[in-house]
Amino acid sequence: MVRLVILGGPGAGKGTQCEQLRDRLGLVWISTGEILRQAIAAKDSDGDCQTELGRQAQSYVERGELVPDAIMIQFIQQRLSQPDVQQGWILDGYPRTAFQAEELDFLLEELQQQLDYAIFLAVPPAELKARSLARGRTDDTPEAIERRIELFEERTVPILEYYDLRKRLVRIDGAKPIEDVQDAIQTTVETLVE
Ligand code: AP5
Repeated sequence: MVRLVILGGPGAGKGTQCEQLRDRLGLVWISTGEILRQAIAAKDSDGDCQTELGRQAQSYVERGELVPDAIMIQFIQQRLSQPDVQQGWILDGYPRTAFQAEELDFLLEELQQQLDYAIFLAVPPAELKARSLARGRTDDTPEAIERRIELFEERTVPILEYYDLRKRLVRIDGAKPIEDVQDAIQTTVETLVE
């Protein structure tokens, strides 16, 4: 049973690493960014978002702003209560604020689950920017990338201390090649899957 949170700035490699972890360990990968992008992309015949989540999130995601905590917390509460995640999960892009981190702990207590590790992929800001620009997703405009990096520093970096104090934080050099980063994560996770 593995329960992981993957933290890192925009372009740190969270999705890249989670995809490999999912394929290798068969874990359920929950990417809040991907879920929001899919909800925004699903449009009805009038060109409006089909879901309430897509409607609520669209303007925030396009500008690189954070979707309000209340929306994200409610979404995660519902997602982690579903049957497919009872054998473990990887959260990619959540939590992103101190409030989300605290609420996640309350939720896990309620569900009688425990987080194993919060894995932080450390990558310098210039590299975050270069990778995001090269990828060229629709929300990868230079302005939105700058804003995501700024918000990462302001709102997400403080969570590192939160997990460090709880002896859950594992820092990994995310500037190394993709395979090296995956090996470092696997070494951390191996002890849990034995
Ligand atoms: P989200 O999708 O989570 O965006 P992000 O954090 O900005 O992260 P990215 O998806 O851009 O990057 P990544 O770390 O997954 O890197 P990747 O593997 O793709 O969220 C999008 C938006 O949704 C947010 O801006 C916000 O609006 C909203 N949102 C989401 N969660 C939220 C929450 N909890 N609360 C509020 N709002 C929320 O890699 C990037 C590129 O680098 C790829 O091309 C890859 O091939 C390359 N690469 C990866 N690793 C390496 C490596 N080691 N070496 C060289 N290249 C590499």
